[in-house]
Amino acid sequence: MRIVTVGRGAVGAGLAVLWKAAGHEVDLLGRDGGDAADADVVLVAVPGDKISQALSKVTGLEGKIAVDAMNVLPERHGDFPSYAEEVKSFTRGPVAKSFNMNFASLYGAVLEQRVRPSNWYVADDGAAAVTEQLIRDAGFDPVRVGDFTRARDFENAVWLLMSVQPAGGVFYRFAAPGEL
Ligand SMILES: NC(=O)c1ccc[n+]([C@@H]2O[C@H](COP(=O)([O-])OP(=O)(O)OC[C@H]3O[C@@H](n4cnc5c(N)ncnc54)[C@H](OP(=O)(O)O)[C@@H]3O)[C@@H](O)[C@H]2O)c1
Repeated sequence: MRIVTVGRGAVGAGLAVLWKAAGHEVDLLGRDGGDAADADVVLVAVPGDKISQALSKVTGLEGKIAVDAMNVLPERHGDFPSYAEEVKSFTRGPVAKSFNMNFASLYGAVLEQRVRPSNWYVADDGAAAVTEQLIRDAGFDPVRVGDFTRARDFENAVWLLMSVQPAGGVFYRFAAPGEL
């Protein structure tokens, strides 16, 4: 796939390494923006208070599948019901929320684990298949925990990960009985 990341920090650049290793073409955009017209999917990973500022500098977003990786930390910003909906106001295509519940500091260790760590996501139906592919190609096991209407609830659930030890980050896994 051709992937454009809006944000080239810990999340954007970190996922780019994993996705390139899996054979994807990845272009990284920073605060100066750029063009996403050739992208099959756009990852958005900028600070939550900079979403509109960042996306307003990116051309070619109309109708694109988008994956929003952003968290409402240290607090929620803006008037949209969710960050995912703020993203959708620019792309007007199917949106998923994923990678927000996984620590970028651990990307380098994903493939070293005994079993694939889970990656929870919510999505419009039209974004689910691409999101699952990107999750698998980053070394995680996708778990759809809701549809797009759950985006705000999902964003608000980030506290689940924040107080777990070790503070440097954890993996988690949902498994069917017998899988572990
Ligand atoms: N770090 C994690 O473990 C983690 C995990 C899950 C979710 N998240 C979420 O993912 C998002 C990105 O986190 P990160 O850790 O990757 O952040 P980061 O390393 O600080 O990178 C932030 C990126 O956003 C861009 N940016 C900053 N201000 C901007 C502005 N005013 N306009 C446009 N772009 C701007 C920066 O552009 P330049 O490159 O031009 O400086 C940079 O590429 C956040 O919402 C965070 O909550 C982070």
